[in-house]
Amino acid sequence: MVGQGERAGVAKLKADALSAPDKDSAGVRLMSLEQTQVRLASCHSSPFPSFARAATSTAMSTTFQLDTSTSRSHPTPQPMRRLTVPAIRDRKQDGVTTEPIVVLTAYTARQAQLLDPHCDVLLVGDSLGQVIYGLDSTIPVTLDMMANHAAAVVRGSYHSVVVVDMPFGAYEASPEKAFESASYLMKFSGAAAVKLEGGEAMADTVSFLVQRGIPVVGHVGLTPQAVNVLGGYRARGRSEAGAKKIVADAVALDEAGAFAIVVEGVVEPIAVDVTKAVSCPTIGIGASAQCDGQVLVTEDMLGMFERVPRFVKRYGDIAEVIAETAKKYAEEVRARTFPGEEQTYQPK
Ligand code: KIV
Repeated sequence: MVGQGERAGVAKLKADALSAPDKDSAGVRLMSLEQTQVRLASCHSSPFPSFARAATSTAMSTTFQLDTSTSRSHPTPQPMRRLTVPAIRDRKQDGVTTEPIVVLTAYTARQAQLLDPHCDVLLVGDSLGQVIYGLDSTIPVTLDMMANHAAAVVRGSYHSVVVVDMPFGAYEASPEKAFESASYLMKFSGAAAVKLEGGEAMADTVSFLVQRGIPVVGHVGLTPQAVNVLGGYRARGRSEAGAKKIVADAVALDEAGAFAIVVEGVVEPIAVDVTKAVSCPTIGIGASAQCDGQVLVTEDMLGMFERVPRFVKRYGDIAEVIAETAKKYAEEVRARTFPGEEQTYQPK
């Protein structure tokens, strides 16, 4: 319950926002108001009194900031507007994308917090099956796995559009089944859109979802959920017929209303043909710089794995950092130099 004083504060904030001199600053103020209301609502049930105080004391302020010392899960929230699906779709105008779309995968809240300011879209990919759960493929990934990781990513992000993958078996049987799965994912997690694999065969499903309020990203070329049909993860479309099929798949998804299409594991000329053939943006992975945006699995990009597919660029060596850090910790525990005095409580 929000108290009378706080209600008055909120009312004043609303009045201030509505009388703001220009639309943009009004928008920013209204957004702070919404965040303040959310925090006010949640802080009253907070078991942490200092968090409640911090949130309440900023209720009258137009630039709301969380007390970062009290919350590990929300250390640096930025009062920024989240990008929207239409904003991503409209990056491509008349076949031209002036600002390439930056996409990375994210599976956890903290990862999302770190990636969010630098991305346009965070994709909760079913690659989490291999990356997080150590599975051999994406086939065993469940709807509940996707829902839980997507909810964490939404909680950890403020700016990017969060797209969640529909896992194998959750959508192929019928448009109705797809709607049931997609609406569950979106309700549970707060994600703004879903992604599904497949081209012409999925066009009716994409259209069904879009007409019912579910934005969809398509995925053509190398589609990992079809690994058992394809017989592996090799680049697709090396024959003329194969190349034509990938372009036809992308066009079918575009016409069905997909707002973006992931193009994975194809030779450059196919990426170019697809990108020219569709009105919505293409997001490449192993598909050349000619696409309207790029996506990588974050752990690949960070250098978490020794195996580096040809299309991946390792921008860091996080595996080395983790191994070195764990080694140092283990040495200090064994030498009884950790915990030191600084990390030890003493009676007052
Ligand atoms: O599951 C995933 O992470 C993906 C991207 C690699 C496109 O589908």
